[in-house]
Amino acid sequence: MRCSIQLSFYILLLLSFNCHSHVVEWTYQEGEVDEANWAKKYPLCGATHQSPIDIQKKKVVYNSEMSSFELEGYDGPLHGDFELTNNGHSVQIGLPFTMKIKKGLPHVYTAVQMHLHWGGLDLETSGSEHTIDGMRYMAELHIVHYNSELYGSFDEAKDKPEGLAVLAFLYEDGHFENTYYSEVISKLTTIRYAGQVTKVKILDPLAMLPENLENFYRYQGSLTTPPCTENVLWTVFDSKVILSQNQIKLLENTLLDWHNKTLRNDYRHAQPLNDRVVKSSFRVKMPKGEYSIIK
Ligand SMILES: *[C@@H]1O[C@H](CO)[C@@H](O)[C@H](O)[C@H]1NC(C)=O
Ligand SMILES: [Zn+2]
Repeated sequence: MRCSIQLSFYILLLLSFNCHSHVVEWTYQEGEVDEANWAKKYPLCGATHQSPIDIQKKKVVYNSEMSSFELEGYDGPLHGDFELTNNGHSVQIGLPFTMKIKKGLPHVYTAVQMHLHWGGLDLETSGSEHTIDGMRYMAELHIVHYNSELYGSFDEAKDKPEGLAVLAFLYEDGHFENTYYSEVISKLTTIRYAGQVTKVKILDPLAMLPENLENFYRYQGSLTTPPCTENVLWTVFDSKVILSQNQIKLLENTLLDWHNKTLRNDYRHAQPLNDRVVKSSFRVKMPKGEYSIIK
C-alpha cells in the first residue's frame, strides 16, 4: 500500500515535468544554445558544407544539363487535412506523399512538409536564409523532401547520405494580397502558442510558388537548423514569390516561441561556401557587362 502511494507520487511528478517544461534545445537569438553556439551541442553545425549560403552571382557556374526539372502532384487545389503546426521555430505545413520531385535530381524525392523563415525583429528587417549577392529577402519558403528511392521514410532518410532535397523560394513584398496564402496566414492566430496544431482543408502548392520554375541555383548543403546534417541537395529558385506587406506583417507578428516571445528572425546567417560550387540552370545576368562562368 505504502509502496503504491509512493510510486504514484513519482509518476505524478514525472507527468508534471513532462507537461510544463518543454526543453528548448536551441534558439536563434537568446539562451545558452543560440546560433553562435549551436556547434557546441550539435557538432555538425560547425562543419564545412553548411547552409544557408550567400549566392554570389559572379561565382555561379551555368550548367545546361540542369534544365529537366519536374514536379509531380504539386498542382492543386488539393483537398485534405493538412496539419499546420507552430513548432516554436517556424510554421510548418504537412504535405501529402503524392507530392514529389520526379525528374532533375539524381533520385526521386517525396515531399514531407514546408515551412517558412522570416524577420521582423526590428522595423523592416528581412528574414530569408539564403541571400543573393548579400541581399536578404523578406522571407523564405522551404519545401522539404526525402529520397524515397533509397529510403522508406523521412525519419530513415534524415541523417543518411543523399537523404534530403529542399526547394527554397524567396519572398518579396508587394501591394496585393496573395490569396493562395490567405487560409494559412489567417489560421496563424489559432496556433499562436508553440506546439499548437490546426488543419488546413485546401492547399494549392504549385500556386504558392512563382510561375517561373526554370531558373534556379543548386548546391550541396545542410539542414539550416540543428543538428545541421550535411545531406541536403538545395535548389534555390531565382523568381520570387510576392506577398502583401500586410501578409508579411501577420507572419512576423502572430506566432509565439516556447518562451511566449513573438517568433521573429528565425533564420540562420550565411555559412562559408568553402570548396563548394553553386550551379545554375540559367545564364545568370550580371551587372555592368560582367559574365557568369559557363561550363
Ligand atoms: C505561455 O502562455 C500560455 C497561455 O497563457 C501558458 O499556458 C504557458 O504556460 C506560457 N508559457 C510560458 C513558458 O510562460
Ligand atoms: Zn528551413
